[in-house]
Amino acid sequence: MRHSFLFLLAIIVFSGNILAQGNDIDKSIDSLMRLMTLEEKVGQLHQITSDFAATGPITKDGEKQDRVRQGRVGSYLNVTGADRTRSLQEIAMQSRLKIPLLFAQDVIHGFRTIFPLPLAEAASWDLGAIELSARIAAKEAAAAGIHWTFAPMVDISRDPRWGRVMEGAGEDTYLGSQIARARVKGFQGKAIGDTDAVMACAKHFIAYGAAEGGRDYNTTDMSWRRLYEVYLPPFKAAMEAGVASFMNSFNDINGIPATGNSYLLRKLLKGDWGFPGIVVSDWGSVGEMVNHGYAADLKDAAKKALIAGCDMDMESRAYTAHLEDLAGKGEVSMQMLDDAVRRILKKKFELGLFQDPYRFSNAAREKSIWNEQSHLEAARDIAKKSIVLLKNDAPGKGKNPLLPLSNYANKKIALIGPLVKAIGDNNGFWSYSWPDDSIRVVSLWRGMVEYLGSANQLRYAKGCEITGTDTSGFAYARKMAAQSDIVILSIGESAVMSGEAKSRSNIHLPGMQEQLVKEMVATGKPVVVLISAGRPLVFNWIADNVPAIVYTWWLGTEAGHAICDVLFGKYNPSGKLPMTFPRTEGQIPIYYNHFSTGRPFKNDNDNNYVTAYKDLPNSPKYPFGYGLSFTQFAYGKIRLNADSINPDQQLRVTIPVTNTGSYSGEEVVQLYLQDITASLVRPVRELKAFRKIKLSPGETKEVEFILTANDFSFYQEDLSFKAESGKFNLFIGGSSAATEKATFFLR
Ligand code: BGC
Repeated sequence: MRHSFLFLLAIIVFSGNILAQGNDIDKSIDSLMRLMTLEEKVGQLHQITSDFAATGPITKDGEKQDRVRQGRVGSYLNVTGADRTRSLQEIAMQSRLKIPLLFAQDVIHGFRTIFPLPLAEAASWDLGAIELSARIAAKEAAAAGIHWTFAPMVDISRDPRWGRVMEGAGEDTYLGSQIARARVKGFQGKAIGDTDAVMACAKHFIAYGAAEGGRDYNTTDMSWRRLYEVYLPPFKAAMEAGVASFMNSFNDINGIPATGNSYLLRKLLKGDWGFPGIVVSDWGSVGEMVNHGYAADLKDAAKKALIAGCDMDMESRAYTAHLEDLAGKGEVSMQMLDDAVRRILKKKFELGLFQDPYRFSNAAREKSIWNEQSHLEAARDIAKKSIVLLKNDAPGKGKNPLLPLSNYANKKIALIGPLVKAIGDNNGFWSYSWPDDSIRVVSLWRGMVEYLGSANQLRYAKGCEITGTDTSGFAYARKMAAQSDIVILSIGESAVMSGEAKSRSNIHLPGMQEQLVKEMVATGKPVVVLISAGRPLVFNWIADNVPAIVYTWWLGTEAGHAICDVLFGKYNPSGKLPMTFPRTEGQIPIYYNHFSTGRPFKNDNDNNYVTAYKDLPNSPKYPFGYGLSFTQFAYGKIRLNADSINPDQQLRVTIPVTNTGSYSGEEVVQLYLQDITASLVRPVRELKAFRKIKLSPGETKEVEFILTANDFSFYQEDLSFKAESGKFNLFIGGSSAATEKATFFLR
């Protein structure tokens, strides 16, 4: 009797706090937790997948809904749709304490409207557009009842063999940190609890992108200094932007699985950084500690993960099976368990779910957002900004660059290749396919037909498949080329060749596609090659023999429109590579900000007894930060406000940039620093700032950068972050190969 009175009282106390803040929420959580049994507490830490979709092995059990009714499930992943989330939430509302479920989903680059792959968006270097893409994804997902996205992935990776490079922002820590912030802001909007926002998740903590050999889920082993300097900052940036959650990575780091790593989770993340949100495991990563040989069995894994600081167990079912017993026997402390529960309840309060558990599952909002035109416009905008123009020479003996195709608008165009008519592939890995994709996703073919007004000028041949050895389609492709004035080839990977568990040892163009390009070049017609992929690929023959090459990644719903905007010059490309493109796999790992060595490489004619390969140049095929425009930009001399500064002073750097060509265009002006002599070996250069500017033909802009002590600092041997007095080089230009240089002294 007394119990049910207290229970009612508590329900009244905590359910009034729709968007309660700080202390109010803490008090409500206290009241609620006093009523919770150990079983109900453990329930909050348990996340299961629905049977609708899965990204890992599902442990089927027929009683999921009963468990929800018993208050033994805290969160679901892979339930989408206002109706589905509502009906599951209704079951949660039948539980004793009526604690609402959290619905999580991988909303990685769009939900209903698919945006370019995250790596492609990173090529835009346009933080506003990137934030907007996450904002729209959040609106669409939240209307389908989703509270929480497992994004952004902020893993740095220097290895294009790793299939998940498509999901991150590339190889650079500074760019990656800026993008991490933009994405968190976009997903979470003004505040968690707004019904157009979702909680974000910085993943995968940590060093998942440094898997040995680029093989997904593989070991990582590195110095703490490298971890602090290269891999941690984007996570820190996400945290500073208010990210609601972190996800563990699958890998071990220096011998301890990230999921059971107390130093990383409890000491560094929750302790030193003071992260107040939820730490969720990756799919099954608690249980996988048994495979790692770090836990004896599932029970041991549950114990190690909770003690380390992993709050929620995604799909291992280790917590739900063993935590009650472990806590009962005092093998995990109640205080640690309560802390994990508290973190999860707090987010449920902040989301306003205690007042209205259905506030996100709004079928009317879901319907009205379904065909939102402005979302498609934003998708087209960032898609065209993500495209990177790699080469644009004059064909044959001509003088004018082949692109844009202004001269070909009325001529015959042969569209050749296995991806010309691709539809679903444009969505890329980690995306949703919708029943109306065939009419909504714009293929290259459709983009061309719409641009030209009809298919009359177009000829089409598939030529070959993406993979395989069949060349029987070449003859017809040659025929179509012969009937045309220009050949545009659309080739690359299929969308599922990059993504989770999609590591490849060979990143050359697959199948007979390079051969198809050779056949087309042999026709003597001018050739443009469009390459779609989720990672840097190797395509040396094409790079050396085809006049125009455009890297189009996977651009999402509006792909075909965006590609035509660039091909026909409606948009002047401005994308810059967020990853170094190697000449061949043997150069991997290859990244621009490598350390200075004792025997630096000078040039290809002088490469004896220096750090070099005997069989290929040291330089990449295309450097980090590289990308062309239809116009040209000239960089003037760098000016500094002082030759030497104190650490508490700012360095003001300016450089004039002029558009010397005949098109209006955007340029990403990049600033790199080199600490010439230090107490530890430093990178040859590191990106420290960039600005994206727009210039009309003939126009000059003074671009200004302000550098502070933070930019000159680095992690010392004891992991403190400090600047050292000494000489620095500063480089500014349109890629990491920038040559415009100035030197200054830090006192
Ligand atoms: C991936 C995560 C993802 C999770 C849930 C895992 O396999 O590594 O990034 O969020 O599945 O789908």
